[in-house]
Formats: sequence, structure tokens, C-alpha cells
Amino acid sequence: MTDAISYYDDHPISEAHVWAAVRARTGGFDARLRAEDLFDFDQDHYGGLSAVDALATRAALGPGMRVLDLCAGLAGPARFIASRRGCRVVALELHAGRAAGAARLTRAVGLERLVRIVRGDARRLPFRRARFDACISEEALLHIEDKAAVLADVRRVLVPGGRLAFTDWIAHPRLADRERARLRDWMAATTVQTLDGYRTLLGRAGFGAIEAEDLSDEWRRVVRDRIQRLAARRDEVAQRALHAFFLGLIEQGKLGGGRFTAVS
Ligand SMILES: C[S@@+](CC[C@H](N)C(=O)[O-])C[C@H]1O[C@@H](n2cnc3c(N)ncnc32)[C@H](O)[C@@H]1O
Repeated sequence: MTDAISYYDDHPISEAHVWAAVRARTGGFDARLRAEDLFDFDQDHYGGLSAVDALATRAALGPGMRVLDLCAGLAGPARFIASRRGCRVVALELHAGRAAGAARLTRAVGLERLVRIVRGDARRLPFRRARFDACISEEALLHIEDKAAVLADVRRVLVPGGRLAFTDWIAHPRLADRERARLRDWMAATTVQTLDGYRTLLGRAGFGAIEAEDLSDEWRRVVRDRIQRLAARRDEVAQRALHAFFLGLIEQGKLGGGRFTAVS
């Protein structure tokens, strides 16, 4: 069975991919690289910058706010909200290689005073109570078995009234147990929630003003495009079969996306 770390050991959105894409665009490394120069390549979620902006708006992010980006990947979203909204972001990432890559990319665009990369586990948040004014997360809680515990811990590190805004995959009613099992084995996706399931978990964790939006139609288009682009880059038969399975679940309306907002 794949765990989250081995799944991201070999992932098409990587630090190497970002540098290669930047180099191809600029013809070499530019000493004056800005966060904007990476944005086409460093976001590992569906919907690109507008998806991050939608979360930032729901989390009411503004200058000087202390924000936790949970499961931050290469910290593309963290750099976006720091550079566009003036937030001070802690980007927490489990995978050592991705955390190191996130730190190098952040230094390369001169944002290290606003974005701090912490290598750590969302299941054991290494932060004190009320450390953050807001928390965002994109397409990552799917990897976490005990979502109730993580949500409760996120509430602990938020100030009272702090906002949590995140996106994640959601299950629709026809998603079968054997399909859930294959998602878990292939890409460490576990305990995938329904929209209502997340509402309930957020409520039990003590959050209020809970909003849940179904993004499945939007994600269907994005995932279709993304898998087509990957198919052009990857020629392994096994990967293609898994991508076809994944896209099939989305096309059949068994799997989709949700955006959730709640107040601590
Ligand atoms: C799909 S990527 C999303 C990255 C980032 N949020 C973005 O949108 O660009 C999911 C990330 O979650 C990280 N992750 C998975 N489990 C984690 C955990 N328990 N704690 C912290 N990070 C985790 C993975 O290593 C991966 O980088």
C-alpha cells in the first residue's frame, strides 16, 4: 500500500519540474526571480491561483495575518498569499524533499521573511495554542486517516474566531468500497469524506459558521485537462491505467471536490 510520502517521492509536480519549467521559460536562472515567475508551475491542486484566491477570500486573509498552510507541498499557495495578501505564512509539509524544495523556491524569490517552511506532520501540529489567525489547506486531507483529530488540532492552533478554509476530494454516494480501496492503495487517499461528512466532522471539532461548496463540476474539467497533459509526458502503462481509473470515477460522478469554510 502506498503511503503519502512514497506517493510524493515520484510526483509530476516537483521542485525539479518547477526549475525545468522556469529555465525553459527564461532561458536560464534569473537572479531577480519573483514569486509570480513560479505560479504557473508550483501549485499542486485543482484550479490554480483562482482556487487559492477563493480560499484566501473565504479565510478573510489580509496583511500581517498569521496563516498556517497545512500540507503545503512546494509552498506555491503559501507564496501566493504572502505576496498578494501580505500574510505571514507557516507552510507545514511532511515530505522532507518537498519541504526542502519549498524552502529553496521561497528563498529564490526572496519571500523567506514572509513564508517559513516547517517540515512536520499535520497529525501532530508542532505549534502552540492560538498561534494562527487563519488556516488554509488544499487537496491534502485526503491523505489523512483521522480527519476528526486533525480538524480538532487545527482549531486548537487557531485564535478564537480564526477561519479555516480548505479544499479536498469528496466522495459521492456511488463510490464503491473496492474503488475506495484502490484509491488508498494507489495514492494514499483514505477516509474520503462526503460534503455532509465534512460538515459533521467540522461541527464535532467545535467549528461554527460551516459552509460546504460542491466543486465537482469544476474539478471534472480541470482533472480531465491535467490527466491529458500528463499522458503526453508519461508513458508507463500502469500509470495510464490508474489515471484512467481516477478520471473515470470523476466522470461517473463518484468522486469530486469540495470547498469548506468554518470559524473557530
Ligand atoms: C496534493 S499536494 C498539495 C500541496 C499544496 N497544498 C498545493 O496545493 O500546492 C498534498 C501535500 O500534502 C502533503 N502531506 C500529506 N500528508 C501530510 C501530513 N500528514 N502532514 C503534512 N503534509 C502532508 C504531501 O506530502 C503533499 O505535498
